Amino acid sequence: MDNVSNEHGQKAIISAERLSMTIAYGAENLTILNDINLSIFPGESVAIVGSSGSGKTTLLGLLAGMDVPSQGKVWLADEELTALDEDGRARVRARKVGFVFQSFQLLPSLSALENVMLPLELKQSANAREKALELLDKTGLSHRINHRPMQLSGGEQQRVAIARAFACEPRVLFADEPTGNLDTHTGEMIIDLLFALNKEQKATLVLVTHDIELAARCDRYIELSAGEIVPEAQRHHAQQVASRKTILQAEPLPATGD
Ligand SMILES: Nc1ncnc2c1ncn2[C@@H]1O[C@H](COP(=O)(O)OP(=O)(O)OP(=O)(O)O)[C@@H](O)[C@H]1O
Ligand SMILES: [Mg+2]
Repeated sequence: MDNVSNEHGQKAIISAERLSMTIAYGAENLTILNDINLSIFPGESVAIVGSSGSGKTTLLGLLAGMDVPSQGKVWLADEELTALDEDGRARVRARKVGFVFQSFQLLPSLSALENVMLPLELKQSANAREKALELLDKTGLSHRINHRPMQLSGGEQQRVAIARAFACEPRVLFADEPTGNLDTHTGEMIIDLLFALNKEQKATLVLVTHDIELAARCDRYIELSAGEIVPEAQRHHAQQVASRKTILQAEPLPATGD
């Protein structure tokens, strides 16, 4: 399973094999994910869709090595995450992964600029300040760099979280509802930025979203229902995503600004 290849002979960058997540909840065991098998290939953009509570955030956390499954295996960029301890998983995350949380998780005592600089400083990257300023500019936040998270709106915090996730040029970017708190215009700007990263840095995108527009921009999508992957023939969102894809393909591409 760890060497799954696609029709182009590419090796999967993320694989999950028989992944399950069960949590003891009071007297019973609650199954949050059940027998998930998937492979995602380098440079792909994949949306994870499904109704609230279907297990999307839980799955993203397992694929990124934030959490460990009750059963099954996960590989990320040639490492079997499920064979590593917390320190080992943290090392893989720091080197290979950017993560935008549904709840942002910015450090409250740091300014927007300092939040974005932090991963760069941890990596002892040269020009951390300049790189962070450039990313904040790209997310439209040049005028808010010295604000702390509680002095920013929800959408502004989300954009800081996105700039931080981009900072170390990750091979895989996981984002949980990256456009969930944004107005249409800002949401489109963030979507363009995500796909620019996908194209320019060949980063793999794994995006949890309720946004049909975003799902349609991705190469493909995975639908969850009650903790299981919905077989392609039974998908609820298929019609909506397919018709949006047709419209997107007919529209001229947005200007990339370069
Ligand atoms: N620590 C926990 N203890 C008990 N139940 C949990 C725990 N974490 C998640 N759950 C339950 O597991 C299910 C899946 O949660 P998850 O956060 O993955 O859903 P989601 O698909 O991301 O939903 P949303 O779209 O609302 O963000 C939910 O029913 C949630 O209540
Ligand atoms: Mg969620």
